[in-house]
Amino acid sequence: MAKVNNWQLNREMEYPYEEKKPKKQITYVFDTNKCIACQTCTVACKTTWTSGKGEETIFFNNVETKPYGGYPQKWDVNTLKELNNQEWGKDGVYKGKTIFESESGEQVTGWRPEERNYAFPNIGEDEVLGNMEKGAFFNGIHDIWMFYLARICNHCSYPGCLAACPRKAIYKREEDGIVLIDQSRCRGYKECVKACPYKKTFFNMVTRVSEKCIGCYPLIEQGEQPRCVTSCIGKIRLQGFMEDAKPPRKDNPFDMIVRIKKIALPLYPQFGTQPNVYYVPPVHVPHDFLIQMFGPNVDEAIKLYRNMKDDKELLAAFMLFGNTPRIIHSYKAEENHAVGYNEIGDEIVRVPYVEPVHNRPHWDAQFQTFRHNTP
Ligand code: SF4
Ligand code: SF4
Ligand code: F3S
Repeated sequence: MAKVNNWQLNREMEYPYEEKKPKKQITYVFDTNKCIACQTCTVACKTTWTSGKGEETIFFNNVETKPYGGYPQKWDVNTLKELNNQEWGKDGVYKGKTIFESESGEQVTGWRPEERNYAFPNIGEDEVLGNMEKGAFFNGIHDIWMFYLARICNHCSYPGCLAACPRKAIYKREEDGIVLIDQSRCRGYKECVKACPYKKTFFNMVTRVSEKCIGCYPLIEQGEQPRCVTSCIGKIRLQGFMEDAKPPRKDNPFDMIVRIKKIALPLYPQFGTQPNVYYVPPVHVPHDFLIQMFGPNVDEAIKLYRNMKDDKELLAAFMLFGNTPRIIHSYKAEENHAVGYNEIGDEIVRVPYVEPVHNRPHWDAQFQTFRHNTP
C-alpha cells in the first residue's frame, strides 16, 4: 500500500496506488437546503444514459430522503458499520480507519448489496424523524426533520471502485479526474460494487458488466455542465473544476466555496475516498447526525450559510448556481452582479443579487387592454 495525502482527513492514509493528481478535478457543489426532491435530475440522467436493457434499476443520479431513505437500501448504514469507530480529533484530524485501512487484510472494506436492496429506489421518501404529538401545531420551530440528499458518483480522488477492480478496468481521466469503467476490460467481478462506499457502480444483469456515472463527459468536453446539473429545478447544483495541487484561487467559485470558506463539505469523508461532490449541510438537522455525515466543520458551515447575505464574495459564487449551462472557470463579485467567465476569460453569465421589480401600468395603451399584475 502507498501513502497518500487526504486533505479531507487532514492526514496521510493508505491507498493501493501512488498519488497521481489529474490536471484538473471535476467538482460539484450541491446546496441541500434548496433541494425539493422533484427528481428532475434523476429523470434527466436516466433518460440520457440508463434507459437500456438491464439498466432498469440503475440510477447514476438519485435523490433520497434522510434519515430513512437510501438507494440501494441502507447503503450508508451498512458501510459505516464496517468502519466501527469514526472519531475526529479536536485538531480536525480523522482518528478512525478508512475503507483502505481495514484490519481484516482486505484491499478495500465494503458491503455487498443484494438484489432486493435495489428494489425500492424511493423507500423512505418524505418520511420524517420524530413524532408529532396529538394537537401539535407549527410554532416556528420544526420538532421533526428530514432532508433531501441528491447523490451521484463523487469522481473520488482515491476511488474505492478503482482500487478494488482486479481487472484494472476502472480509470481516472488525467484531463479532468472523471472516473470511468472500461467496459471492454470489465469481466463482471463486481468488486467495484462492493468497494464503492457510495454504491455508485452498478452491475448490469443483461450485459454482465458494470456501469457508472460518466460525469457527462461528452458535455464536459464541450465546456458544458452535466445533465443532472443543468436540469436542476431548484438550482442547487454547480459543476466546475478544482486543482488541489495548487493554492486556492479566490476567483474560482469552487476554491472559494470549498477550500477558502469551507461552507460545502464532503459526504462521509471518513470513508477516505476524498469525494469531489461537496454539500452545503442542511441548517435544520441535529448536530450529531450532520457531523457523522459531513465531518467536523458543519457548525461553521451553517453559520456562514446563515450570514451569507453579508459576504458578497461568497454570495456571488452561490448566485452562479443554475444560471448558465456553461462551465464557469472564474468569477467576480461586482457591486450589483455576480459575473462568471469561461476558460478563456469571456463573460458567460451575469446575475443580479436582487431581481429587479418591474411595475407595469394597469392599462396597456398599445394593446388597448387592462393587465392583471400578479403580486
Ligand atoms: Fe468510484 Fe464510488 Fe468514488 Fe464514484 S463514488 S469514484 S463509483 S468509489
Ligand atoms: Fe447522470 Fe451525467 Fe449527472 Fe452523472 S453527471 S449523474 S451521468 S446526468
Ligand atoms: Fe472490475 Fe467491477 Fe468489472 S470489479 S471487472 S469493473 S464489475
